[in-house]
Amino acid sequence: MDNILRFGCGPDDQSDITTESDSGMAVIALVSPSGGAGRTMLAAHIAAQAGRAGDGPIAVLDVDPKGSLWTWWRQRQGKGGAPSFAGRAETAGLGAALADLRGQGARLCVIDTAPGDAAALGPVAEAADLLVIPADADAAGTEEAAALGQALADKATLAFVLNGRSHGGEQLGNLTSRLAAGGGWPAGMVRHADAYAASMTAGRTVIETHPEIYAADDIAELWANLRGILVAG
Ligand SMILES: Nc1ncnc2c1ncn2[C@@H]1O[C@H](COP(=O)(O)OP(=O)(O)OP(=O)(O)O)[C@@H](O)[C@H]1O
Ligand SMILES: [Mg+2]
Repeated sequence: MDNILRFGCGPDDQSDITTESDSGMAVIALVSPSGGAGRTMLAAHIAAQAGRAGDGPIAVLDVDPKGSLWTWWRQRQGKGGAPSFAGRAETAGLGAALADLRGQGARLCVIDTAPGDAAALGPVAEAADLLVIPADADAAGTEEAAALGQALADKATLAFVLNGRSHGGEQLGNLTSRLAAGGGWPAGMVRHADAYAASMTAGRTVIETHPEIYAADDIAELWANLRGILVAG
């Protein structure tokens, strides 16, 4: 299944991702109402792909007490291509943690969060330039992602990612029209690939472990689209 939207921001596009951020560091946060939606996997892959695309220095910030993104970052040390900076924070300490990463020179910070509703995720949304909401590629997943988007739309720019990890075969048009109700950008689709879990466990990404398969293409296209949305504001 092809990704949904092409912004046409290729490797030659040198627009600065911090354009829309008044702080000199662009902030992207992965949020979803339910567990297992792919937030951590996408946060790691977005950070790695953005670094490869020349948008670093990159920081990752883990606001999920489970600390999965932090663990991935630690496992990645010494393997090349690790985000330059990383932090862990509670929601109450988000502002200070972002200021710290900005002070260290990060130009893009990717935040991973625990599942939550609009009230719990409000502070993250306010701190972010772009909220990325992964949606399971089925009716329930797209409906709950759209509802969260609607509830957070006044706080940040929104982008939806269809995650086909358990795609049940529903038509893409049905899925995207349900997401459209959430009021955000349809930023792309990541298809099911077992390589995601294996690469994450090893502190890697499919970009390095399986560069030849469609998953690496999905991630490259997703970052091009998210980058375009960030720059467009
Ligand atoms: N497109 C995909 N194809 C195959 N597996 C996937 C895909 N997306 C995510 N997964 C796998 O699904 C599981 C859940 O993903 P992930 O941990 O990123 O979700 P999460 O939203 O961070 O979950 P949690 O609520 O536990 O923090 C992981 O094993 C991950 O590797
Ligand atoms: Mg997670």
